[in-house]
Amino acid sequence: MRMVDLIDRKRRGGALDGMEIRQMIQGFCEGTIPDYQMSAFLMAVVFQGMTKEETSALTEAMADSGDIMDLSSVHGVKIDKHSSGGVGDKISLVLGPLVSAAGIPVAKMSGRGLGFTGGTIDKLESIPGFRTQLTQEEFLHNVNTIGIALAGQTGRLAPADKKLYALRDVTATVESLPLIASSIMSKKLAAGCDGIVLDVKAGSGAFMKTVDGARQLAMEMVSIGKSAGKAMTAVISDMSQPLGYAIGNRLEVVEAIEVLQGKGPKDVRQLTLRLGAYMLVLGRGAATPEEGEAILEELLDSGKGMEQFERFVRAQGGDLSRIGDTVMESKEVTLKPGVVQAMDTERIGAAAMCLGAGRKTKDDPIEYGAGLRIHKKIGDRLAEGEAAAILYYSHGADVEAAENLVRQAYHMGEAPVSPPPLIHDIIA
Ligand code: URA
Repeated sequence: MRMVDLIDRKRRGGALDGMEIRQMIQGFCEGTIPDYQMSAFLMAVVFQGMTKEETSALTEAMADSGDIMDLSSVHGVKIDKHSSGGVGDKISLVLGPLVSAAGIPVAKMSGRGLGFTGGTIDKLESIPGFRTQLTQEEFLHNVNTIGIALAGQTGRLAPADKKLYALRDVTATVESLPLIASSIMSKKLAAGCDGIVLDVKAGSGAFMKTVDGARQLAMEMVSIGKSAGKAMTAVISDMSQPLGYAIGNRLEVVEAIEVLQGKGPKDVRQLTLRLGAYMLVLGRGAATPEEGEAILEELLDSGKGMEQFERFVRAQGGDLSRIGDTVMESKEVTLKPGVVQAMDTERIGAAAMCLGAGRKTKDDPIEYGAGLRIHKKIGDRLAEGEAAAILYYSHGADVEAAENLVRQAYHMGEAPVSPPPLIHDIIA
């Protein structure tokens, strides 16, 4: 196999077979295929795409490039959940404990945030003492004893994807459906679960800006998962405005706790219940999504979900009593009055980043208490002098930039507007 021939074939719109893809990924990881050839191949994929067979082969080759999590010692059907990333997305914090309280083992590896979307691991680390680096023994012990463990991805999980993503990032080859789908799914396959519920977000605060684009990505990922023998469902959910009202790591943990206490924003509760219902169906804990939703609703309202959250946090060293220890500076953002017509949600995520809640590069430190709470969402009326949001930060944050971004994010007008639907589609 000569790499130049594979590049040439892809450039002309041809397809590679599974063995060629596997050898190419192996060669790239070992350094026998240099970055310049892989870059040329990736660019050819951006223009010519990949067949379903090629995408599946690429995903499996990347998953097999490192460790595959062995969850065989965990009893029951293990169902993972993945979000394509959004602003204020704290669903996993509520969903993991809730689904595990319903008897589905949750053994989840999560990533850190980069850019305008946050990561579950950063949110959990904002709880004083919480440990996200667990040994494999600790991870499996917690899943087997309390039903849930949530840990950071190790560098040994799909290392080929890590190396490829770094190259895509600097060669303008991120935006390709088969490359995005295989990148996400390689990490999910390596995480070793039996089934996966995908939350693919669509809108101004998501990677995919349109419902159509999100649907295509979801279909691609569901197809990859199924051909790898996994039970799959994808929910296309709305990200044309933030989820809930809190954006920023510790602020989101507090909001997630409110939802677990039967309070909190309706959209966070509804999306959690819907995703959880599909996890229960795939995990054979419910016959239908409706039955799954009813089971989870009962667990939320009886406080059993919250008890499980407390158990989970304690088991990983976290101390919820210290969550309010750090007092942040704050500033309200006022806007001209009117009705919120639309939101440029990516700017809200960027504002949180300016306040210290996110990273521009992967080594940037995070200020766990920083972020913002928005008070108004699409369709809400803002009165004269009323604040649209409140910013939380400490010394050194770029408050002026954050304030400007929040102002630009709100599109105000006078016409009444209906809020967007929370769930656009289900792909199974
Ligand atoms: N997230 C990933 O993990 N990979 C991509 O290619 C895009 C988003």
